[in-house]
Amino acid sequence: MPECDSVGMIVVGGSSSRRLAEDLAKELGVGLLQATSNRFPDGESYIRLETEKLDKEVVIVQNTHPDDMLVELLLLQDAAWRLGSENITNVIPYFGYARQDKLFNVGEAVSAQVMAEHIEMKADKVVTVDIHTDGVLDWFKRAKGVNVHATKCIGSFFTNGGIDLVLAPDKGAAERAREVAEILGSDWDHLVKTRLSGTEVKIAPKRLDVKGRNVLIVDDIISTGGTIEAATMQLRSLGAKRVIAACTHGLFTMGALDRLRKCCDKVISTNTIESEASGISVAPAIARAI
Ligand code: R5P
Repeated sequence: MPECDSVGMIVVGGSSSRRLAEDLAKELGVGLLQATSNRFPDGESYIRLETEKLDKEVVIVQNTHPDDMLVELLLLQDAAWRLGSENITNVIPYFGYARQDKLFNVGEAVSAQVMAEHIEMKADKVVTVDIHTDGVLDWFKRAKGVNVHATKCIGSFFTNGGIDLVLAPDKGAAERAREVAEILGSDWDHLVKTRLSGTEVKIAPKRLDVKGRNVLIVDDIISTGGTIEAATMQLRSLGAKRVIAACTHGLFTMGALDRLRKCCDKVISTNTIESEASGISVAPAIARAI
């Protein structure tokens, strides 16, 4: 087995994040080692880093979602540590379980805290991308937690893309729309839902007209796609020329991607979760944080 020939630092890609690991290694100008991952007949995860020795500094890129990826992440940390790594950075592009970040009901677990406690047993630094709330990083007591934003990467992707208006689906996400719009030099706004009657709801931009304009909706997560679908229908009925949807984390559950492709002109996500729609790389943002 060959030894890794990089100088001082190496990026290790787990099976959730192979393309992003490759981008990140290029961005940092260091070596790349893609982990071998497999399954035992009973379904348990098996991983191996095929090298004799690892650099002192290792950057492991792997999500905590879905559950088997979390197990793989813990195994990767251990394998890196056994191969001599003294400084382990975990890049967790999509930090699953961040949404259960407090007790909503008595008797529950605080999932985000559980994740942090287990991950920092072998991590010195943890880098996340557009994590549900920055507060989750406070659960890391020993490891240093850093969250980076995907807005620059999303904005750069759409430069010269003819976007007239960047829209957030709600007020809480307005800052994200503003940041992307600033890069594009376009207008920005957020959608507001107004209840007209018991059965009627109107969704429209708070300040600006969308008629005849190319609109980019930016969100942190697309899960079922319901939020983007409803917004797109409304924007079309208000006369928007093109509607493009972009998000950081493309979970695309319940056939969301197929459904959204029918109503939006384009649907794209970053590569925090790899899929056929993950065309925007967040490697530059992560590299800046390492
Ligand atoms: C909500 O706060 C988030 O920012 C997203 O808008 C939401 O998670 C999207 O979910 P879905 O795609 O299921 O509508």
